[in-house]
Amino acid sequence: MSRIAVVPGSFDPVTLGHLDVIERAAKLWDQIHVVVVHNPGKTALLPIAQRVTLIEQSIRDARIKGDIVVTGWSVGLLVDYCTDVGASVLVKGIRSQLDVSYETPMAIVNRNLANVETVFMLPDPAHAHVSSSLVRQVASLGGDVSPYVPRPVAELLQTNEVD
Ligand code: PNS
Repeated sequence: MSRIAVVPGSFDPVTLGHLDVIERAAKLWDQIHVVVVHNPGKTALLPIAQRVTLIEQSIRDARIKGDIVVTGWSVGLLVDYCTDVGASVLVKGIRSQLDVSYETPMAIVNRNLANVETVFMLPDPAHAHVSSSLVRQVASLGGDVSPYVPRPVAELLQTNEVD
């Protein structure tokens, strides 16, 4: 039986830190599903479909290997998606103690809801300061985001082709 993990997030937009976690997870599981989820607590920059496309382009562009499905999810609990595809593990990147505090309650709730475990991965420390919210802010003020995001995202944000 193939072992499947889900890598969820807002990915608004996907950053080099996210891509690093995706690449590491793809080496550890037979198949990973990168699931773009609407987070009602955040004001979105990009529609979910565009975030999915950017992740697909970035994975191709970076030549990341593995069986990787990228999709959006906006109906119900994330663990319902996990159950639907037969995944028993969620993978999250942890940059700091703040991330641990933010992720811990979600991990416990997801385990209680559907016995889905959360595995925390440490991305390359080079990306420890990178967040999508910082990228959105720098881009909105006309700054260069290319050190923090994959090429397809930098190109999109620099040409302002945001729906
Ligand atoms: O990148 P983010 O915004 O930190 O990702 C958070 C996300 C989208 C993974 C989280 O909000 C989530 O799991 N949302 C799905 C709704 C859900 O299942 N909630 C209950 C358990 S936390």
